[in-house]
Amino acid sequence: MPRIAYVDGAYLPHADAAVHIEDRGNQFADAVYEVWAVRAGGLLDTPGHLKRLRRSLGELHIAVPMSDDALTLVLHEIVRRNRLRDGLVYLQVSRGVAPRDHAFPSPAVSPTVIVTAKRTDMKTAEARAEKGISVITLPDIRWGRRDIKTVSLLPNALAKQAAKETGAGEAWLIDPDGTITEGSSSNAWILTPDNVLVTRAASNSILNGITRLAVIEAASGEKLRVEERAFTRDEALAAKEAFVTSASAHVTAVVAIDGQKIGDGRPGAVAKALRTAYLTAARQNSVALHKREAGPLVARRTKRRIP
Ligand code: PDD
Repeated sequence: MPRIAYVDGAYLPHADAAVHIEDRGNQFADAVYEVWAVRAGGLLDTPGHLKRLRRSLGELHIAVPMSDDALTLVLHEIVRRNRLRDGLVYLQVSRGVAPRDHAFPSPAVSPTVIVTAKRTDMKTAEARAEKGISVITLPDIRWGRRDIKTVSLLPNALAKQAAKETGAGEAWLIDPDGTITEGSSSNAWILTPDNVLVTRAASNSILNGITRLAVIEAASGEKLRVEERAFTRDEALAAKEAFVTSASAHVTAVVAIDGQKIGDGRPGAVAKALRTAYLTAARQNSVALHKREAGPLVARRTKRRIP
């Protein structure tokens, strides 16, 4: 089954899909992105990702390339054409193609839209979740607008590579004041010894994860108290549990930080319960949304067939 990608209105074999060499995403990282998890053929947390995409585009004054309905159609089509059951869908919108100049092109050019799909090996993913991951801590050297989901990810890539080189699954980044901001590609959470879930409050310092928001909701369903505030490395080391959230990791337990065990060094009960609660709710929302979207489409098709 060949992989299929979407580039500016065309569905192409993945190997032939390309953008112009003077795309501003390429030269200036002048682009934003979103990543959707696909489980059992359904996209998870679609409304949240679309909302954040609009916010990222707005903050950078990049034109909205198409309506949410049209974009949703493209996302579903990519899932369908790739026969994707479990995996990730990646969407990127750049400011467009223009001769290289730092200032925005004037008059404005059309944004470039690309969508790709990637399969997840569920056996490996589930084994990783079951075992938990270890994290290392590193200084956060990123810019001041981490709330915008831009493709400017070099510090994140360097941090993830450093983690990988020590056998860790993620790097938690630390601000100059000693507090943890988030992971290189995930949000950071701890469970304090008195059973309070803590994750940093949304601000310019972190990306407000869509999974993070869904897990805050799932936690209230599980009658768990959540405090949205900064926490230090020392507080994390003394935590009962720790975990990360993201579209690709869902909820994945952290079993060690900088080589020191968290709890008994195995995924904690709360992290496991939140993973299950999150996935159950996300799947239900996805199925309900697909049904609502399919409704008008089926109705329109039926209407056309009536002579
Ligand atoms: N990463 N923080 C950062 C820096 C991230 O890159 C991500 C997501 C998150 C979690 O956001 P969400 O829950 O919406 O996935 C937090 C994606 C998955 C990526 O870059 O591949």
